[in-house]
Amino acid sequence: MAYNQPSLAETSNEFTFSDHDFQMISELANARYGLFLQPSKKALVHSRLAKRLRILKLASFEDYCNLLNKTEGDAERMHLLSALTTNVTHFFREMHHFDFLKDVLMPQLIEKSQAGHPVRLWSSACSTGQEAYSIAAALVAAAPKLSQYDIKILATDIDPQVVQTAKRAIYPDEQIATIPPFWRDLLTGSRRPQSGEFRIDPALQKLISFGELNLIADWPMKGRFDVIFCRNAAIYFDKGTQARLWGRFADVMLDGGHLMIGHSERLSGPAQSAFKSVGITTYQKLTGPFAPVNVSDKGDRN
Ligand SMILES: C[S@@+](CC[C@H](N)C(=O)[O-])C[C@H]1O[C@@H](n2cnc3c(N)ncnc32)[C@H](O)[C@@H]1O
Repeated sequence: MAYNQPSLAETSNEFTFSDHDFQMISELANARYGLFLQPSKKALVHSRLAKRLRILKLASFEDYCNLLNKTEGDAERMHLLSALTTNVTHFFREMHHFDFLKDVLMPQLIEKSQAGHPVRLWSSACSTGQEAYSIAAALVAAAPKLSQYDIKILATDIDPQVVQTAKRAIYPDEQIATIPPFWRDLLTGSRRPQSGEFRIDPALQKLISFGELNLIADWPMKGRFDVIFCRNAAIYFDKGTQARLWGRFADVMLDGGHLMIGHSERLSGPAQSAFKSVGITTYQKLTGPFAPVNVSDKGDRN
């Protein structure tokens, strides 16, 4: 009957999403993951999370917030993070970083390794692994006999599901379709894709340890890094969290080490004076004690 028909407003907005619900979710996402949800994103957050309510068969956002706040809400909190951020990545994304690694950094890193020092690189928001495998390919491109050196990559992400995909090291064929043959052969060990999928060369896989790590929580690593990639993750964080993160990277990086960030990210906060720009979104950690860097020396060249 006509009065049972939902109105257009109800159909397109099946769950009421109050300012209070939005605030609860923003606070939780900020406290646990450092995310910053601008008030202008309320409609977007609503539409992304409405899918979760449907899947969970929940009646309201109030029920959803209650679930998120429960101790056993771990799995759902991870779905929340996935709904509010993106795992989008691809092989050799922002290619200039891999060229820089191969052509500029690797000769120095090999020399360092030949002198008996370990070399460590970190892909710190690795998503499904393409960034870490691209790093490994750049290392092997510079040093085909890489296994004779103590050079290793740590690759971490907060999301256990993407870490599983990264460890599996199997990707759809189309992900390498447009990659130049030189790099494609390095990734695949020159093996042809089968049934629409390809496997990363085990020689590259061996260079990488994958794990779960929340960038805004404690970091268990003891050693220091020569190179850190943190690309297209800090963009989701609030300004204070970003500034702290750059500082923490400076703390776990060797003097002279390099930090690669995403194309739309910028260093901020006190850590700016610990780094100098040496390329497009590429920074080198200065040798302490840190002198304030002249503003005109900083920033990207792009
Ligand atoms: C867009 S992907 C970037 C992947 C890759 N770095 C690149 O640039 O192609 C962003 C990744 O950041 C991860 N992420 C978001 N918040 C995080 C946090 N607090 N700690 C660690 N990783 C986080 C997400 O799980 C996601 O996989």
